[in-house]
Amino acid sequence: MENTTRLLQRQAALLAGRRALIIDANDEALGDLPAAHLQLHGDLASLRLDQATPVPEIPADTDLLVVILPKARERLDMLLATLAGGLSAPMECWLVGPGKGGIRGALKQFARFIGAEAEGAEPEPMDSARHCKLYRGQLQPAAPTPLTDFVRRWPLGDLTLCSLPGVFSHGRLDDGTDLLLEELKERLPAGPVLDIGCGAGVLTASLAARGLTVTAVDVSATAVAATRMTLAENGLQAEVHHSNLYQAVPGRFRTLCTNPPFHEGLTHTTDISRRLIGEAPRHLLPGGQLLLVANQGLPYGDWLREHFTQVAVVRENRRFKVWRASLRP
Ligand SMILES: C[S@@+](CC[C@H](N)C(=O)[O-])C[C@H]1O[C@@H](n2cnc3c(N)ncnc32)[C@H](O)[C@@H]1O
Repeated sequence: MENTTRLLQRQAALLAGRRALIIDANDEALGDLPAAHLQLHGDLASLRLDQATPVPEIPADTDLLVVILPKARERLDMLLATLAGGLSAPMECWLVGPGKGGIRGALKQFARFIGAEAEGAEPEPMDSARHCKLYRGQLQPAAPTPLTDFVRRWPLGDLTLCSLPGVFSHGRLDDGTDLLLEELKERLPAGPVLDIGCGAGVLTASLAARGLTVTAVDVSATAVAATRMTLAENGLQAEVHHSNLYQAVPGRFRTLCTNPPFHEGLTHTTDISRRLIGEAPRHLLPGGQLLLVANQGLPYGDWLREHFTQVAVVRENRRFKVWRASLRP
């Protein structure tokens, strides 16, 4: 269980009788908080949520908003602006986050939305434990801000990429992805292609622009929205699914390509990549291949050889390797 959840559990007396919306939920245990009624909003397809969307909608009878501090500061602005835009009267709002996750800096952002500048209403400290802190204020209604106001655009060759706060490598091309793109440019893979963990849709759009049939998945609803924006911006087509790895993916592919995920919340982990590799053969056609970029020094070669007949490094630089792993035809 996340430490932020434990801190919220300590607020049983204050939650009793409340109708709360939890925003950017990162932990299913949040669903057991002792409020009279709870709705969970969040980004991840791997959690059971009431709203799995980039930004939340406030249900009509809500009387408490609880924001779990996101990692990206711009994302906190996006969430608070969306919430404020959905209010017709001030509403109590709690902000909870780990000390290490930048809660101090976040308070300045929070203060802007609770009218601190105009009325001097500073966020009120409520509790702190397990290296986390909890604050509250009255969120003030504001003019609605459309999601498109938070989009960052940047050029990549003939394409324009779009991303949203919280999406991997927001507003710039990642160096590992860049190396994988070099490989894809030189040797166009066979389609249909599945882009696993599509982020802002860099690989998806690059391959779709070259005429390939592409399906994209990401566990993040915000990444899915960003990939769809990138495709629309460039007049391209691809199927995009909100999916925990292969969960929502139909059919089999000739090529799987990925710059694989290496963290879950604040924790670095290679577990997802190992699962991605282990389950890959079940989603490939005979003779199909997995193209994957990874940091130097991680034992991807060993994991790939456990599941594929041919494994090779096809490109590398000081920091990254591009691996190609193929199945027998
Ligand atoms: C390293 S980023 C790569 C993003 C994009 N392909 C690029 O190259 O810029 C990994 C992506 O995997 C997504 N991801 C993490 N866990 C996932 C999972 N279990 N299923 C699907 N996608 C996942 C993350 O949200 C993130 O967008």
